[in-house]
Amino acid sequence: MRAKRKSPSIKLETPEEKELLLQVNPQNLPQHIAIIMDGNGRWAALKRLPRIEGHRRGIQSVREIVTLSRELGIKALTLYAFSNENWNRPLSEISPLMMLLEKYLQKELKTMMEGGIRFRTIGQIDRLPDQVTRLIQRVEEKTKGNKEMTLILALSYGGRSEVVDAIKRVIEDIKTDKLSIKDLDEERFSNYLYTRDFPDPDLMIRTGGEIRTSNFLPWQLVYTELYFTQTFWPDFGKRELLSSILAYQKRNRRFGLIPEESDLPVPLDDTRVDDIDAISRLKKDRA
Ligand code: FPP
Repeated sequence: MRAKRKSPSIKLETPEEKELLLQVNPQNLPQHIAIIMDGNGRWAALKRLPRIEGHRRGIQSVREIVTLSRELGIKALTLYAFSNENWNRPLSEISPLMMLLEKYLQKELKTMMEGGIRFRTIGQIDRLPDQVTRLIQRVEEKTKGNKEMTLILALSYGGRSEVVDAIKRVIEDIKTDKLSIKDLDEERFSNYLYTRDFPDPDLMIRTGGEIRTSNFLPWQLVYTELYFTQTFWPDFGKRELLSSILAYQKRNRRFGLIPEESDLPVPLDDTRVDDIDAISRLKKDRA
């Protein structure tokens, strides 16, 4: 039986979105969703528009996904907005992207305050233009008391640099006797990562058709359910987010334990599978 939904205030446009929402089990929502927002450039190229138009439209998707995530009761949403590798793009793309980021933060502060959204960032923020770094600090400070959801932007972020930065700080603490080697374990090490304040993601979505994680949260994603979709980020809206949550709710998260009797796989023909990775996972499970 479907549990009663607590919040009646979810705004959906189409009958399809409403039907998808009815299928979502509110008792089994991912607490933390992380997203690689890929495909802005290809979306623009298909429409013969400049790449920056793809990023501009991508911001509309960001707004839609932040709003719906908060309305659903997702507690944390991490968006990969700019990677360490993205610094190698031409300045003609980096500069407008930074301007879009600045505008987004200026405009969304009000929405974040109204929606109880706390804003945080992960990454080497000091590499961003000074005025962007200052704005980030201001928005983080202003929203720090908000409790509904945390929006985390990964900016100038690279997972390997994060691990190397953490190791450097571990060594520093060992040298100054704040930490002893024998006490270092996975949990303590996690406290040296940029993500120390957040739980690991339950669901990681990558849009744009590539099936890889591209230096995004390598430590944190080890038990995360991965969902890949062909949809380009500017076309990723409420319908797509609800579909990805439904796919997540079909997964059997075992965390290395053995399956319960009731979780044993049913024959492939009888399985309602709606995403390609679920099919390959089932096949692999049976091989
Ligand atoms: C990947 O698409 C996307 C990015 C590198 C930037 C993502 C940025 C946004 C969605 C806008 C800014 C975000 C915020 C939160 C203000 P791509 O350019 O690699 O696309 P392609 O693979 O099709 O070329």
